[in-house]
Amino acid sequence: MSTLPSPQGAGPFDSPQGKRETRKVTVPDILTKKARGERITCLTAYDYPTARILDAAGVDMILVGDSLAMVVLGYENTLPVTVEEMLHHTRAVRRGTRRALLIADMPFGSFQLEPTEAVRNAVRFVKEGGAEAVKIEGGECRLELIHRLVENDIPVMGHIGLTPQSVHALGGFKVQGKTLEAAERLLRDARAVEAAGAFSLVLESIPAEVAELITREVKIPTIGIGAGPACDGQVLVWHDLVGLSFGVEPKFARRYADLRAALEDAVNRFLSDVVQGAFPAEAETYHLPPEAAEKLSGRARLTRAGS
Ligand code: KIV
Repeated sequence: MSTLPSPQGAGPFDSPQGKRETRKVTVPDILTKKARGERITCLTAYDYPTARILDAAGVDMILVGDSLAMVVLGYENTLPVTVEEMLHHTRAVRRGTRRALLIADMPFGSFQLEPTEAVRNAVRFVKEGGAEAVKIEGGECRLELIHRLVENDIPVMGHIGLTPQSVHALGGFKVQGKTLEAAERLLRDARAVEAAGAFSLVLESIPAEVAELITREVKIPTIGIGAGPACDGQVLVWHDLVGLSFGVEPKFARRYADLRAALEDAVNRFLSDVVQGAFPAEAETYHLPPEAAEKLSGRARLTRAGS
């Protein structure tokens, strides 16, 4: 496997196991991780600096999620985000990602209509966005589409359970698979996604017991978000992880930093420094050479006297 050049400033890093790790992560690597019982890490990113940070830290997969709609663009749900908007952010993340596997989420409306249009949109994410895989929400009903994409050499990550693009059909962002029938339906969905050829499967907001069963039953890695600890990997939305989400924080999210407080503090100190004349200081100021400064003020004096 190839060793990619590091983006400027980001060198090889120490993996949590202490090994130097610079190898590009590929789709087969993700499958191998499950076979070896190694946990898989995934985080969302929507811009270049975040991608740089995640990639340098050694995350296995970076997902440009359609959660972009909510956490970056300020919509109430994920439905309004467009292919063009997703592509714009995928390209930014691509520029900041060297090592991690880059996955782009196919937004609502980009794959539900004509199969040909769905394939064309997926191709755009690979060709124009630089994604190495796409994510598609839905289980059994997406079997044919996933199969078609995979046949066309586009790796697919499935997504079942709470699929946010179904928010209206589900009646809100609710935990799924809570009855025996619903749990069995999820297992059927998972098997269908696997049979269609997906290389991994996101399980969102489902009981841990159901996620554990699915994880045991399918060979492809399950990536949990609100699906308990038995999944083969875990994904979180970056803004939840660093305390930058403005909506209701889901029960499953863990905040590892409070960037909102840090950013508020930074802006408050800037405002106060400007108002008090403490910014900019000498160190942040450019000057003319003394001779030119002297001449400039001499000329200004003459102009004033002349008028
Ligand atoms: O859009 C997104 O961020 C996602 C993840 C939460 C899996 O679908």
